[in-house]
Amino acid sequence: MTNTEGIAIDAPFPWPRPPIDPPELYGWMRENRPITRVITRTGRPVWLVTRYDDVRAILADPRVSADSTRPGFPVLSPSAPDDLSLRSFLRMDPPKHTVFRKLLAKNFMVRRVEALRPAIQMLVDDTIDAMLASKDDPVDFVQAMALRVPSTVLSWVLGVREQDRRFFNQTTEDIFNHGDGTDAELVARSAAAFGKLLDYVSELAAERERAEDPGEDILGQLVKASREGSIAGKDVANACFLLTVAGHDTTASMTALGTYTLLQHPDQLAELRGDPELIPNAIEELLRYLTVVHLIVVRIASEDIEIGGTVIPAGEGIIPLNFSANRDDAHFPDAGRFDIHRKARDHVAFGYGIHQCIGQPLARVELQIIFETLLRRIPTLRLAEPVEQVPFKVWSPINGVFRLPVAW
Ligand code: HEM
Repeated sequence: MTNTEGIAIDAPFPWPRPPIDPPELYGWMRENRPITRVITRTGRPVWLVTRYDDVRAILADPRVSADSTRPGFPVLSPSAPDDLSLRSFLRMDPPKHTVFRKLLAKNFMVRRVEALRPAIQMLVDDTIDAMLASKDDPVDFVQAMALRVPSTVLSWVLGVREQDRRFFNQTTEDIFNHGDGTDAELVARSAAAFGKLLDYVSELAAERERAEDPGEDILGQLVKASREGSIAGKDVANACFLLTVAGHDTTASMTALGTYTLLQHPDQLAELRGDPELIPNAIEELLRYLTVVHLIVVRIASEDIEIGGTVIPAGEGIIPLNFSANRDDAHFPDAGRFDIHRKARDHVAFGYGIHQCIGQPLARVELQIIFETLLRRIPTLRLAEPVEQVPFKVWSPINGVFRLPVAW
């Protein structure tokens, strides 16, 4: 099978994708070959799982491992470091993984996150004030709004310096901007950015380790846990690295692509403006429809696993495609249609199972405040350039845009 862009199912994975939708081949696979072995651009075999029910089953299966030190673990990034000690709890199994979840859970509980609402509201209002006062023409919504809010909130909860925000925004962008792996310069820049961010978080961790009282924020909690011996010293920087990357680019991409999507659906946008109570449900639908965190969710079979009549052999990689699951018509009728009234809350945009996103309550509160305030305060917001000129991150494992020029 090839799709309209001429991509064959045996072409190296990941395949190119259109700006907002998943690769067309996912749809064909859901119908015809829902679980298929392909070869990655980095030369490893992986099993792609495309249907909603199968994706959830794989992510909940204890025979499926997230441990990236297992031989054969799928590597998708052409710039991934070879050093296997550079892994965070995202790439660990229980019982080690459970230690981190227990340690960090309290920071993301709904009650704790709700308490941040007034501060986040103030931040969003200040950010919009600054955007409205900007002399740039057009204004880049990614820098002016989408990145600013989540990266500032992250600096509060994690305990990174607010003034370093631009540095970690830029390095995160560079890490994921490795293209399809054929441009040596992009790949080298991506690998260098990985090193820079790791040096940065290692230095932050070292500073806290030197302090008598490491503090109450997440960084401080991690340092205390390493002093007590429940996690290793290197795990402090690795966890901090994960939270830095996972905690801002994701929400920023949802803000930018979500705004883009709403602007492309003016009737639904008008309805939301008229009835802000619809916003939380619209955000669930945006999460489903856009599935910004896409090719991060990778696993390996620790035993032979039979699923849907196919056996995935032990030691082979698995990619449960959450973007495909979220577009499965068998679970979300007419899944390719964006519909703010749809019941989408059981999407898998935050993953599923034990690695399901720990930061989702925070992401939801940030997105609710951002969209409610934006729609209310800038009702005339519009794209300032033709749609074809919007630079989408079509190769990044986190969907997004490099820039989103807007006016009002
Ligand atoms: C809209 C925004 C976000 C989306 C779409 C998103 C999506 C995801 C997904 C799909 C996973 C599962 C990965 C897997 O199973 O392999 C995940 C895990 C994770 N996310 Fe998020 N995320 C978002 C925001 C955040 C925020 C704000 C934080 C923290 C401040 C965060 C921290 C994490 C962490 C630490 C993990 C790893 C959890 C584990 O391995 O147990 N995320 N996220």
